[in-house]
Amino acid sequence: MKVVAFNGSPNQEGNTYHALKIVADELNKAEIETEIIQVGNKVIRGCIACNQCVKNQDEKCAIANDPVNEWIQKMKEADGIILGSPVHYSAIAGTMKSFLDRAFYVTSFNGMMLRHKVGAPVVAVRRSGGLPTFNQLNNYINYSEMVMPTSNYWNVIHGTRPGEALEDEEGVQIMRILGKNMAWLMKLVESGKGKVQAPEREAKEFMNFIR
Ligand SMILES: Cc1cc2nc3c(=O)[nH]c(=O)nc-3n(C[C@H](O)[C@H](O)[C@H](O)COP(=O)(O)O)c2cc1C
Repeated sequence: MKVVAFNGSPNQEGNTYHALKIVADELNKAEIETEIIQVGNKVIRGCIACNQCVKNQDEKCAIANDPVNEWIQKMKEADGIILGSPVHYSAIAGTMKSFLDRAFYVTSFNGMMLRHKVGAPVVAVRRSGGLPTFNQLNNYINYSEMVMPTSNYWNVIHGTRPGEALEDEEGVQIMRILGKNMAWLMKLVESGKGKVQAPEREAKEFMNFIR
């Protein structure tokens, strides 16, 4: 099994990376392969609401000059996905948000590509805004009918300078437990395949609340 983890920080080995690495180490110990992809230092523009992905049904974003389409396929191939972001102004960092809006619009409107994969959010913050950012990352996971592991607290680690988060002992424990629980949940999902029938996908009801 494989997990792909996205690092929304512009810092290569900043606090988000370290948090993802703690989770990844636990997954590796459970013999689950991991790959950490850095999103936050790339040039990724936001969704232009062209709806070409809905029309074309080709699992692709129409903006083709950046790695978003490659990362969509990485998510499709993976059994588990981790969305990691530093807190920027009490929210997901801008480049990561641009990636998530585009990638999850494509996956959702091309047959719910991530349905029943295991997914978790991870957040790094200096002081305030950890929970709103955690909730924002959860929105993508929940919308996609994914399955979510938890820890013994919300998945937020504290630190300012790159690497400082490793001194947040509670945060380190939260990430370690998340990694263990994610590995366990992935194995449960895997062992249920062919034995426990997954619910059939329902056609989406779409209401606009105007008429
Ligand atoms: C543009 C910007 C905005 C930030 N906004 C916040 C904030 O709202 N609250 C906070 O506590 N820290 C904020 N920070 C600090 C980072 O969240 C913190 O340093 C985090 O550990 C960075 O993670 P990284 O090393 O993975 O980039 C901000 C940092 C930057 C660069």
